Formats: sequence, C-alpha cells, structure tokens
Amino acid sequence: MLRVAAEFFELPAEEKMKLYSDDPAKTMRLSTSFNVKKEKVHNWRDYLRLHCHPLPKYAPQWPSNPPETVSNYCQEIRELGFRLEDLISESLGLEKSYIRKVLGDHQQGQHMAVNFYPPCPQPELTYGLPSHTDPNALTILLQDQLVAGLQVLNDGRWVAVNPHPGALVVNVGDQIQALSNGRYMSVWHRAITNTKTARLSVSSFLCPEDDALISPAPELTRGDDGSLVAIYRGFTYAEYYKKFWSRNLDQEHCLELFKNTIE
Ligand code: OGA
Ligand code: NI
Repeated sequence: MLRVAAEFFELPAEEKMKLYSDDPAKTMRLSTSFNVKKEKVHNWRDYLRLHCHPLPKYAPQWPSNPPETVSNYCQEIRELGFRLEDLISESLGLEKSYIRKVLGDHQQGQHMAVNFYPPCPQPELTYGLPSHTDPNALTILLQDQLVAGLQVLNDGRWVAVNPHPGALVVNVGDQIQALSNGRYMSVWHRAITNTKTARLSVSSFLCPEDDALISPAPELTRGDDGSLVAIYRGFTYAEYYKKFWSRNLDQEHCLELFKNTIE
C-alpha cells in the first residue's frame, strides 16, 4: 500500500493535477492542506482521497495504480475496523454488535486519505496537519516505515508515535467519544514535517452512515448517584460532518458544539 502511495505521488505534476479538486463532496480527488477554501494557514500536505465502499462502485474512479493492492487493503482494514468496533463495545459492557448497529451495517462512508508530506523548508511555520481530532468513528493509520511525523497529545504533552515495523496506529474518533459518553476520548494528534525528507501515510476512516443517529449509549449515562447524564445530545452523522467541514481544522473540539446544555 505504501509503495502504491509513493508511486502515485511520484507521477508528474501535470498527471496528478488532472485529479485536483478543493470540493470536499468529491469521492475521488487530489487536494492539498485540509480545507483550502476555509482555512487561513495552509498545511504542508497533499492528499489523495479515495472512497472505499462498496468497492465495485468506487474502485473504477481511482487512478490506475494497481487497484488490487488498494482494494485488498480497504477490505482488510474494514474487517479490522469491525473487529475493533466489536471489541470496544464489549469493553464498555455493551452488546458486542452495539457500535456496529449504531454506525450502520454498511458504513458506506469508509474512505481513505493517502497523505504526502513534502520536505518543508520552514517546518516551524506550519504543520503537515495541525492538532485535531478525527470526526469519524475510528481511524486506522499506516505510517511511513522510515520517516516519523505523527504526534499525539498525552497529559498536555506532545508525544511522537514513531513508525514500528508492521504496526498500524488506531485513533479513536469523535463518534466513539460521543457513543461512549466520553469513556473513550478521541485523540488530539498532529503531523509535523521536516526539512529533508518527504513522508507518506495512509489514513483509513471508518465512518457511520450519514443517517446514523449518534448519542451516548443509555447504559453509559448513569451517574454515580443514579442520575442520568448524557454529555452529548443526539445528532446524525450527516449533521456532525457538515459542521466539521464548515470549520478550520485548528479549532476547539467539534464535539463541544454538540454538548447537552445543563439546565
Ligand atoms: C489524518 C491524520 C496523520 C498522519 O489523516 O487525519 O491525522 O500521520 N494523519 O498522516
Ligand atoms: Ni487525523
């Protein structure tokens, strides 16, 4: 998968630019930064966005890199994501299929960002990606095996998540935080760049269906004194995603805007 990614970004600029678009609604596009139309500071990243499910619908849209590698990768990631969703449900004391049922059986929003971070002459002036949490349910990240760049916020300090042979990084996203009523927290993370070497990563985003109704699981909203405390109000994923893309990446946690108001 990383080799396919590298080959794509090595194509001549004219070839790649045929795929360029800054329209977030497009299911296949090459873009840059995060949300070029909204943001004031751009990020030092290019990315190829590919939707992954159902594969027969989307794979024909992809650039003509060997698609089997990418299709297989998407399929395997999907299976892994489902296993993780089941395990997270069980870890919360919920029925195994709870999260999958809430997110929807088809999870058609599954997509990936193939990220390319070119060497940056002045890395102190910007990021590859600034501090953010992912708006979806779970993100499975395949990192460049040679070049580090991912950092996560832990107890107020940025910690490097260096590549580890054969390892994937799993980020909890905002939807699992909402569903679990804050038992799982979506992780603040960012990507830094360096002056000498380009870096690649492949982010796979497992997403609820657009009409999935996300709200804290009722079993997880009982306070110690027996009172019912749902931190977040119910919302559809479509509503959340629209809000997320209407903002800059570098802002307060999008979930803050979906908190229940305490009377
Ligand atoms: C992302 C992301 C980190 C990385 O795509 O949302 O956080 O290391 N990527 O590329
Ligand atoms: Ni992210």
